[in-house]
Amino acid sequence: MELRGRAAQIADSPTLAITAKAKALKAAGEDVLGLSAGEPDFDTPDFIKEAAIAALRKGQTKYSAAAGIPELKKAIVRKFNRDNGLNYTEKQIVVSSGAKHTLYNLFRVLLGEGDEVIVPAPFWVSYPEQIDSAGGKTVVVETSQKDGFVLRPEALKAKITPRTRFLVLNSPSNPTGGIYAKADIKALAEVCLRQGIGVISDEIYEKLVYEGHTHYSIAQVSPEMQAQTLLVNGLSKAYSMTGWRLGYLAGDEKVVDAVSRLQSQSTSNPVTFVQYGAVAALDGDQAFVSKMCAEFDGRRKYMVQRLNAMRGVSCPMPLGAFYAFPNVSSYYGKSFKGVKVSGSFQFCGALLEQEKVAIVPGQPFHADGHVRLSYATSMDEIRNALDRIERFLASAK
Ligand SMILES: Cc1ncc(COP(=O)(O)O)c(C=O)c1O
Repeated sequence: MELRGRAAQIADSPTLAITAKAKALKAAGEDVLGLSAGEPDFDTPDFIKEAAIAALRKGQTKYSAAAGIPELKKAIVRKFNRDNGLNYTEKQIVVSSGAKHTLYNLFRVLLGEGDEVIVPAPFWVSYPEQIDSAGGKTVVVETSQKDGFVLRPEALKAKITPRTRFLVLNSPSNPTGGIYAKADIKALAEVCLRQGIGVISDEIYEKLVYEGHTHYSIAQVSPEMQAQTLLVNGLSKAYSMTGWRLGYLAGDEKVVDAVSRLQSQSTSNPVTFVQYGAVAALDGDQAFVSKMCAEFDGRRKYMVQRLNAMRGVSCPMPLGAFYAFPNVSSYYGKSFKGVKVSGSFQFCGALLEQEKVAIVPGQPFHADGHVRLSYATSMDEIRNALDRIERFLASAK
């Protein structure tokens, strides 16, 4: 059968694909260590589960308002006020089935044919796929490891054309773990305000920051910048709720209304009883988040120190999220047990084949010199995986 729709061109998510391959090998009895997943290894806190169970028991099993229940919108408004000092009304909020879904909806309603969206690289793999399948054009702007992978205003300016509509910001970043400091954000906001460019700010890793860093949203810069920002967040990472599928958007009422209408004609509401769990997560005790963060922090330091001790590997210290993003390109051109490796896909393929360690190639993130390792897994698994990576690298000829 012929596939003619634009969406038929969408690539499979490489992170999900690698995780699935590692799981299949594991199921076949192989001793596979997985550092590829983009989700915390913690269980969802009990009080959140209890709230969803109570909602189920109360019969919250029907359709809800397509854009989310009012209780959850109110909880999201409170969250922005409490955590970010940002004021939104309920009319400026729409709840979706995950931040990925929120972003997908956004690009669908915002972009006309050929509208340009500037995306700093390395980037999360879904942005270009979603932008391009919505009819927009992804314009990649490079950042550098020496700048902590932070986009500089001059680099942004150089990519602006009359067709530029939006800049995508993702801080803390997947895959680099980089975060934008207040001054970095302010400098970018100045350019966006002057040029009339909107910002889609993906803040899904907001709560996962280390070394005393605080998350700063571009919407906090000024009321004008807030009006020009579409802020995307969700519960997956902060509350270990990846499978619950709950994300949200805050921003311009007209955009929110369009997203709500699109949702009402496509997925309808996010799962009703999940939304009650989300109210509990946002309003409840946040101690879980700090405990998880402290655990990630220890693993992060260990992983980065081990990676940097390996010959030919350079790994910047990630300040947020739960990924290390080392540069391993000094090994490209070498052979591993007779397998020649010339890029990140081959590197990760040989590592999985020979040492049974699953990590993610940097190429789909637009950084072929790098690979991504998640430290959202147990310390034992991390230690063993790094021992195997060390052995793998030592075998290079
Ligand atoms: C940068 C980034 N944005 C958005 C998402 C999507 O999160 P959700 O589970 O809410 O769809 C992810 C998940 O991996 C991510 O890494």
